[in-house]
Amino acid sequence: MAEIGLNIEKAAELLNEGEIIGIPTETVYGLAGNALNEDAILQIYSAKNRPKFDPLIAHTDSLEKVEDLVKNIPEKAATLAKHFWPGPLTILLEKKLNVPDLLTSGLSRIAIRIPNHPLTKQLLSKLDFPLAAPSANPFGYVSPTTGQHVQDQLGDKIPYILDGGPCKVGLESTIVGFENDEVIIYRLGGTKVEEIEKLIGPVKIQVNESSNPAAPGMLKSHYSPGRKMIIGDIKENLKGLDKMTTGILSFQKQYDVPDNNLAILSPNGDIDDAARNIFAALRKMDQPHIEVILTEFLPKKGLGKAINDRLRRAAV
Ligand code: TXA
Ligand code: MG
Repeated sequence: MAEIGLNIEKAAELLNEGEIIGIPTETVYGLAGNALNEDAILQIYSAKNRPKFDPLIAHTDSLEKVEDLVKNIPEKAATLAKHFWPGPLTILLEKKLNVPDLLTSGLSRIAIRIPNHPLTKQLLSKLDFPLAAPSANPFGYVSPTTGQHVQDQLGDKIPYILDGGPCKVGLESTIVGFENDEVIIYRLGGTKVEEIEKLIGPVKIQVNESSNPAAPGMLKSHYSPGRKMIIGDIKENLKGLDKMTTGILSFQKQYDVPDNNLAILSPNGDIDDAARNIFAALRKMDQPHIEVILTEFLPKKGLGKAINDRLRRAAV
């Protein structure tokens, strides 16, 4: 099992030696390694059992360090970076030659963000390389929002997990890129589309629903708790089902099933709270006695859209 602790020196030392470790961010925990070291990148793909056509995000702690990795920063990208970094926004930018193709799965753009977590910011400031860090879960499974989640899923594959407590946002970063003069959102996430539009005008949402390996971004089936999941009117769908073997993942409402089978995202209907709880709730549904999960979409505003996206993919 991995050691879990608060030792930033130790984390930095392991990363300097080319090892991979668990790190906290405000979105979800990452499985981190030196983004410029092909051996470390390969270890990440292998520990996650992730196909190499699915590229990794690079994390760093300053715009100067970003500039070392990209050819240029378009004006709108600079505006977004200034406003949202450090924070849950990933920007796709044309990469320089020093960035390994293995990191970007051969694509010409690198995905970069400056995460907003005090421990990880300190860690990054000690390193002279960026950190490649996908979410620290086995490929296709629910993302981790605590150090213990990382331990449960990948603890036997890594030496250390930097423990930064529960993630404050709880959903992965929003991914944004630029094609000609168009701003495109490729993944809905922790930065709200409304906030992006307020700053730079209308964006196009092009969230990938494909399972085509050549398509970058997200795969259709993801975040899976490994159970059949039905999205819709929970009360209606519960009729005729065995309450002992049915899991319920509701936004606000209480249901008459055993506590162990129920996850309520936010009893007072707060969507940001629901975002913080969604992945732990999906994890709770992954219990041997649960055969089917009933859930429902959230209101389509703020982070609700990103949560619905995760539910949709978890249900495939
Ligand atoms: O919040 C987050 O973004 C978390 C934390 C750890 O930072 N990371 C994360 O990484 O969610 P991951 O690997 O689970 O998801 C990254 C997504 C993938 O869907 C990948 O296909 C896409 O970003 N991606 C990465 N590099 C890309 C690139 N160069 N072009 C297009 N999509 C890219
Ligand atoms: Mg992921």
